[in-house]
Amino acid sequence: MAVLDPLLQPYRLKHLTLRNRIMTTAHEPAYPEDGMPKARYRAYHAERAKGGVALTMTAGSAAVSQDSPPAFNNILAYKDEVVPWVKDLADAVHEHGAAIMIQLTHLGRRTRWDKNFWLPVVSPSLHKEAAHRAFPKRLETWDIERIVKDYADAAERMQAAGLDGIELEAYGHLMDQFWSPLTNTLEAPYGGSLDNRMRFSFDVLTAIRARVGADFIVGVRCVADEVIDGGLTKRDGFEIARRLKDSGMIDFLNIVRGHIDTDAGLTDLIPIQGMASAPHLDFTGDLRAATRFPVFHAARIEDVATARHAIATGKVDMIGMTRAHMTDPHIVRKIMAGEEDQIRPCVGANYCLDRIYQGGAAYCIHNPATGRELSQPHEIEPALVKRKIVVIGAGPAGLEAARVAALRGHAVVVLEAAAQAGGQLRLTARSPRRQAMMGIIDWRMRECTARGVEFRFETPADEDDVRALDPDVVLIATGGSPHTEVLTSGNEFVVSTWDIIAETVKPGADVLLFDDAGDHAALQAAELIGRAGAKLEVMTPDRSFAPEVMAMNLVPYMRSLQQLDVTFTVTYRLRIVSREGDHLLAIVGSDYGGVRKERRVDQVVINHGTVPNDELYFALKPRSRNLGKLDHTRLLAGTAQQATANPSARFELYRIGDAVAARNTHAAIYDALRLVRTF
Ligand SMILES: Cc1cc2nc3c(=O)[nH]c(=O)nc-3n(C[C@H](O)[C@H](O)[C@H](O)COP(=O)(O)O)c2cc1C
Ligand code: SF4
Repeated sequence: MAVLDPLLQPYRLKHLTLRNRIMTTAHEPAYPEDGMPKARYRAYHAERAKGGVALTMTAGSAAVSQDSPPAFNNILAYKDEVVPWVKDLADAVHEHGAAIMIQLTHLGRRTRWDKNFWLPVVSPSLHKEAAHRAFPKRLETWDIERIVKDYADAAERMQAAGLDGIELEAYGHLMDQFWSPLTNTLEAPYGGSLDNRMRFSFDVLTAIRARVGADFIVGVRCVADEVIDGGLTKRDGFEIARRLKDSGMIDFLNIVRGHIDTDAGLTDLIPIQGMASAPHLDFTGDLRAATRFPVFHAARIEDVATARHAIATGKVDMIGMTRAHMTDPHIVRKIMAGEEDQIRPCVGANYCLDRIYQGGAAYCIHNPATGRELSQPHEIEPALVKRKIVVIGAGPAGLEAARVAALRGHAVVVLEAAAQAGGQLRLTARSPRRQAMMGIIDWRMRECTARGVEFRFETPADEDDVRALDPDVVLIATGGSPHTEVLTSGNEFVVSTWDIIAETVKPGADVLLFDDAGDHAALQAAELIGRAGAKLEVMTPDRSFAPEVMAMNLVPYMRSLQQLDVTFTVTYRLRIVSREGDHLLAIVGSDYGGVRKERRVDQVVINHGTVPNDELYFALKPRSRNLGKLDHTRLLAGTAQQATANPSARFELYRIGDAVAARNTHAAIYDALRLVRTF
């Protein structure tokens, strides 16, 4: 059957045969070291090639010029030393039968001048980009000439490195900053008419072709409708695509729709959870029909059925499943093996993309092996010695522990106090927009059940229950409970964001939400409070609100909260709450000192992370072989723990996730994977 699958049909692009129709589009996970794609980078792409993807478009925005400073740790394609690194990368991918290309760009104004060489950023206008905040220098002719040469030099380097082709980035970057009337205020010959605004692109393509010849594959990833007032329309975009094709200098188009100069624009172009699936696929199909040219596309095609539909209906020639491959690098292998139902689902959390700016490297919220291929496995090896493992708690940490232990071949029992698995994620998923987060739980439940993990729900475990199971290892994954005891006095008058989210407490009419954690729970509760018709002030001692939510994840919240009666107050700290008649009096200070303000409200909600649910851990600790000790050196080296502190005891004891300290879903799952894979 698999042979008839449209997704598994080969595709011929010029002289290159791609083994199926699935690709990963350019994405810079911010893994380069010194601007070079070294061992970590190689391992990341090799894993996806091994998993069956046909084409991996490496890098994202590899910089062709010195005045295109890496906005998010991009590859420096303007350096000659890049060639051997890219060659190693290409060899590693080719070894597994996949094709490999690279995306080259000049970021124009979409970066910052205070990086690398502190050269001014350049653009065809003085207009600043909201997202990166640099005021650009308006390009002079000598800038254009040197950048055109830089593109050709970089293309030649990539050809020398043995890549199968290159793609030029033309959405939000310098190339289309020339195209768009919003960002090009130059006079002729590079500004004014569409002919003039496309002149730079054709100069670049002409210079590249002169260098790499006619056979090397060159494509353009281009915007075909900016979807913004005054910007490029669909008509403009289709015309640009037609002209690019008719130039005879390119071999494929990779189509995007929208604009990326703001967080909101970027999020519409690359939608996250709660937003429409495949929103630009039909548009791309129209463009393919209009141009009759090889077309690639990616934008939230997160499941195989949608990808198959895209190919079967002829909307695209190659379909991008980029974040889907960050979550599960072995999608194609699983399709071919008839194991589609085992694919780890991308839940659209966008932890990956948001982190390239804020966290310094892309990680998948529920696959901690991604980006850590050198130290963490995507496939779990069976253990030599089988053991009995008891896991307490069926949240993300507990379920990951159970999954990995079962794959190691151990006998696993999970005891969970609640009636269902999920822990804190079940609260998160109460937001209709974030229901996809349950994919993290549901996939693990399926995997665990298929591997014989025994679940006992509504089973709050005590010390005797655990010991009665006679385990070799006990893992405490009991999570945490809301921490609201943060005031100098008046803690008894407050409720937690969890009370609001779980709807065990109704929102008041005039509410102060004090957010000292800066995470999703505060904004999720704020939405519920605002939607109930309340007047709400969200106050934080931080310099900006919701710092842990990050840029693209903030977009849907702001779209909702800005419609409601919600104000945000930064740099103030709630200190005291007292009752005053039928109101609460809140005394507010500041970490900067010398401030005393008052608020009279009828409800105070606190968001301050969690305190660990660690009673069972401390009860079991004196009776465990290791006295609860986790050897960090062994953990980080990926070797088994040595539980020798209390040799007469029967079981080892560890705790993971928020049962240790309040962190996040990724941290909880990573705790579990790296420990349990050594059992
Ligand atoms: C971590 C990360 C970095 C990205 N960097 C780039 C980039 O440099 N250039 C680019 O054209 N697209 C970039 N993208 C966008 C992807 O190519 C793709 O368009 C997007 O993820 C939507 O496809 P998907 O829903 O299949 O993930 C990036 C995506 C991610 C997740
Ligand atoms: S972090 Fe979320 S969006 Fe990104 S790859 Fe993982 S599941 Fe997908």
